[in-house]
Amino acid sequence: MVLCFWLSLMLWAPYGILEARPALSDVHSSTDLLENVARRSRGESSPKPKSADLPESDKVDARIKRRNSLLHQISNVKASIDDPDNASVTTSKKTNVLGNVFISVKTTRQNHRVRLPAILQTWFQLAREQTYFFTDAEDAEVSRASGGHLVMTGCASGHTRQALSCKMNSEFDAFVLSAKEWWCHFDDDNYVNVVSLEKTLKSFNSSELWYLGRDSIRPTIDLTTKQWGDVRFRFATGGAGFCISRALANEMKPHAFKGRLRELSEEIRLPDDVTVGFLVEVIVGAKLTALPNFHSHLEEMLLIRKPLRNQISLSYNSKRKNFVPVEQLLPRDPTRFLSIHCEIFRELPTCKRFRRRR
Ligand SMILES: *[C@@H]1O[C@H](CO)[C@@H](O)[C@H](O)[C@H]1NC(C)=O
Ligand SMILES: *[C@@H]1O[C@H](CO)[C@@H](O)[C@H](O)[C@H]1NC(C)=O
Repeated sequence: MVLCFWLSLMLWAPYGILEARPALSDVHSSTDLLENVARRSRGESSPKPKSADLPESDKVDARIKRRNSLLHQISNVKASIDDPDNASVTTSKKTNVLGNVFISVKTTRQNHRVRLPAILQTWFQLAREQTYFFTDAEDAEVSRASGGHLVMTGCASGHTRQALSCKMNSEFDAFVLSAKEWWCHFDDDNYVNVVSLEKTLKSFNSSELWYLGRDSIRPTIDLTTKQWGDVRFRFATGGAGFCISRALANEMKPHAFKGRLRELSEEIRLPDDVTVGFLVEVIVGAKLTALPNFHSHLEEMLLIRKPLRNQISLSYNSKRKNFVPVEQLLPRDPTRFLSIHCEIFRELPTCKRFRRRR
């Protein structure tokens, strides 16, 4: 498994995910970590890792160095990284909207090596400062490749309602502790077009109550509850991603912060994303604004409207061979994220390299 991961990293090294970054081994408890995430997303530095952690991270350093030099020998390719400040994200420099977004990606141990590399290789590179991966198992390699942005939630692994709601709660908590204006949640099978996300968020005011996402296939949920009686509400399907404004998160906080979202999910016996919809629409009284450019793997990707640059999130389902149709299918791209990335951001050095090869 580990070998596999290194092999895939080596294949991708020319695209930059092996960039050396300071070791982050300050993962102690989930509370510490959330505060750390918050500090980092506010641009403050993290406390120094405890000395007890250093031997392990030294080992990783040494391994990375060896691997890097090996790479240079093998491919003779400079491990260059696409300049995120260039490459059409320049608008975010001016307005700093993307700088005001906290992006959380929900993942789990089993997906670290199969799903995260495609993200780390592509859209993560355009939003490295604001994107964090919320997971259930430590992983030094992924932590390093993400610049220390792997968050140990302390939640169980697996696909149970409890595990998923626990992670969603961690994502929410981290956002609340951050100083960002927007929280955008995505799944680990989402390609996120951060430029389109930024453009969209710019047209909404984060000081107002906004819940943006794709409405689920079921138009409304009808529910009988003890506390709220018979209710009807909509929710943004978590698999397509959704965004919540700071003002809305403030309203949600008494019912969601520090484990309350998870408890609410237990109480109404509904999944994490449905619980968020319940909280927003029934308890807070705000409304979902459905946007058609969020997409989950439940949709037929063949029907995605071009150009891809107008979409916010895309996905895939390998088992059902449900993939976004692309103009040019690039090599070693089973999720098609690289092909999508290069169709949207043609001017990235990585993508230019592919076009020269054609
Ligand atoms: C941005 O990218 C373009 C095209 O790749 C390049 O010509 C330009 O020099 C870059 N600008 C900076 C500031 O790196
Ligand atoms: C955003 O909304 C707040 C609260 O309603 C308001 O005070 C502020 O002027 C709005 N900002 C813009 C740019 O519209």
